[in-house]
Order: sequence, then structure tokens, then C-alpha cells
Amino acid sequence: MYLEKLLLQNFRNYSSLNIKLNPHVNIIYGNNAQGKTNLLESIYVLGLTKSHLLQLDNHLITTGKEFYKIKGIVKKNKIKTTYEVNCNLNKKILKIDGQEIKKISDYINNSLNIIIFYPEDLEIIKGSPNIRRNFLNLELSQLSNNYLKILNEFNKLLKIRNEYLKKMSKNQSYDKTYFNIITNYFVDKSLIIYKMRKKFVEKLNENCGKIFFEITKLSDFHIEYITNFINENSENQKKEMLEKLDKNIEKEIKFGSTLYGPHRDELEFFLSENNLKIYGSQGQKRMAVLSTKLAEIDIFKKFKNTNPILLLDDVFSELDDIKKNNIIKYLADDIQVIITTTDLKKINKKKFNSVNIFKIKNGEVIKTEEVEKDERKSL
Ligand SMILES: Nc1ncnc2c1ncn2[C@@H]1O[C@H](COP(=O)(O)OP(=O)(O)OP(=O)(O)O)[C@@H](O)[C@H]1O
Ligand SMILES: [Mg+2]
Repeated sequence: MYLEKLLLQNFRNYSSLNIKLNPHVNIIYGNNAQGKTNLLESIYVLGLTKSHLLQLDNHLITTGKEFYKIKGIVKKNKIKTTYEVNCNLNKKILKIDGQEIKKISDYINNSLNIIIFYPEDLEIIKGSPNIRRNFLNLELSQLSNNYLKILNEFNKLLKIRNEYLKKMSKNQSYDKTYFNIITNYFVDKSLIIYKMRKKFVEKLNENCGKIFFEITKLSDFHIEYITNFINENSENQKKEMLEKLDKNIEKEIKFGSTLYGPHRDELEFFLSENNLKIYGSQGQKRMAVLSTKLAEIDIFKKFKNTNPILLLDDVFSELDDIKKNNIIKYLADDIQVIITTTDLKKINKKKFNSVNIFKIKNGEVIKTEEVEKDERKSL
């Protein structure tokens, strides 16, 4: 799949935009604060209906205006589909081929598959565990509609269970049978989420070490999924989980919240036996996240049966030339990539067979170059 056309109206610093993108590589260059990140953000919102920067919808509307519109024409197996996200101050309307889609999950499930790498992604390693769980939840929700459904159910159960534990901690009366039913469902959903996350991390590990090596020439980068709840080798996981909750109920009552479950699980990133959060350099952390994101390409290909669109925001800054070239070498020819940079010289564009280059200045985009070295015209 690739994005053939992007049209914007009143999105951030774009009053209007209409560009045709290359099915392979697109480089967007310009000075700071000209709209490079905003352009990638609009594509992300087109695919996932929300900003990757976790901004409120109203912040995305050009200051002083009352709505924004994003429209994209996507080509997949030679078929064109039009996606639209129209948002005003009160509501957001999602459309596929002109038809309104009411349920966000139905839209996302049929929408563009996007893998984005952006500077704040470093927080996946440096930041709080919440950011890592959020990363897992976002990626898995794109890959599986079922994951999103189960995660929503899990969150509801967790909330109810916590309310019960708070009641118990205040010695208020509660329905013990109902609490046990909730705990039982909570364990079921926890187990499904755990298994799906664990499988996803296993799939990442099939590729991320190899990619990290190709970029940095350092071996044995891998990711570990850590849980305090589930014994992987147990014959009867559910029984053990229920026993664990039962054994620790006094502790949970004391805290008034659920202390075990996927909402407490963690990811750790290792280079050999060194935890990158503690020992990694800034560049290593950056490459670790980038390798993880690039490893997702294959997973998307397998699970969604289509090539995702890769958005790389400012990926080359702070990297030495060797690593820059290694990343470029790695960017597969068979997926669409959209890269932003402040310095075009930082990218050796001769390495690409097919590339469009756009200059961006104050929300205006001009195509400056189109290179087509061979006969491939579309994916
Ligand atoms: N809602 C909005 N309405 C109008 N302009 C906005 C809005 N939100 C952000 N901007 C403007 O967009 C510009 C920032 O754009 P963006 O973050 O895309 O820059 P950039 O080209 O990625 O810069 P850098 O190289 O520093 O990352 C700023 O000038 C900012 O004031
Ligand atoms: Mg930017």
C-alpha cells in the first residue's frame, strides 16, 4: 500500500496542500518550524485518527480556523481508496470512499498501516513503563482489531476491580461473588493480552537484532517482555494467576488497586546483557528504537497482508555518516517511505532508485526533484 495523494485544509500551518507522493521514497526538507513534522502528523492522523504526539484534535486545526480536513488517496493492489478525516471543534467525521464510518475501530482496521519513527520515540527506552506499554498497545491495535477489543474490555475490568479494592480498603460493604467474577474475567483477559504481546515481542526479536547489527555493527540487540504475573512454563497459568491474586489480596486492599496484570508489565531493551536504558548511549537508544520499528515492517507484511507506510521524522540528526548510509541501505525498495530532514545533504539520495524531493517553507510544499532510475512505476 502507498499514499498516492495527500490533501490538507487548515491542518496546523497548512492552509491548503495538495501533493502527489512517490510510491517509494519521499524526502521532505526544510528549516526548523516550517511544517515537516506537521505533514507526517497529518498522514498519521489520516491512518489512525489521532496524533502520534497525543495532541488534542483542536490543536491540529490552524489557529483561528474552525475545522481541518485531511484527505488521502491510497493505492493497494492497484485499487484506489479515498480516506478522509474531517474535524471541527465538536466532532470528527471519518470516511472511506465517501462513506461515513461511525466506529473508529472499523476505520482504523481498514485504513492505512503506518509505522512512524520520530524524535520523541527515544522515550520508549528512556521514559516511564507506561510509554512502553502504550507502544505495545498502539502497534498491536493496528495489527489486530481483536487486541483493541480485548484491551478495552480489560481496562473496564481493571477499573471495576480497583473500585472494589478501594471499597475493601475503606471497609465498605461489597458483593464478594461479583468481585470474584470480575477477578476471573480479569485473569482471562490478562492472559490473552500477555500472549499477544509476548508473541509480538518474539516476532520483533526475529528481525530487530539483525537490523540493529546492519546499522551499528553491534551484535545481540534484543527485547525482553517482563511480567510479574504469569509463569510462562506453568501447566495451568490461569489457576496460578488466581492463586497469586488470592495470596496477595491483603496487599492489594492496602494499596486499593490491582498490583498484578498486563497494566504492570514491562519491556526491556538489551545490547548483549546490558540494559540500554541504563548503559546505552543516546545514539544506541535511537538505533534501538529505530531497529524495533523497522522490524515491524515484516510483521505488518505478514499479519496485515500489505506493506505499511514508513514515516521517518528527523531520523538522521545526531548520527554519524556511516550509520546514516547503513539506514539508507536498509530502507527496503518495496515500501513507501517518507523522510524529513533539515539538511538535504545529510541524505545520499543517489542510493535510492525512485525518489521525490520536496522543499517545505512555511506550510508550502514544492516538489524540487523526481528521480526514477528504473522502470518500476508502482508497488
Ligand atoms: N494549530 C496550528 N496552527 C497554525 N500553526 C501551527 C499550529 N500548530 C503548529 N503550528 C506551527 O507549525 C510550525 C511547526 O511545524 P513543524 O513542527 O512541522 O516544524 P518542523 O518543520 O518539523 O520543524 P523542526 O525541524 O524544528 O522539527 C510552527 O511554526 C508552529 O507555530
Ligand atoms: Mg519536526
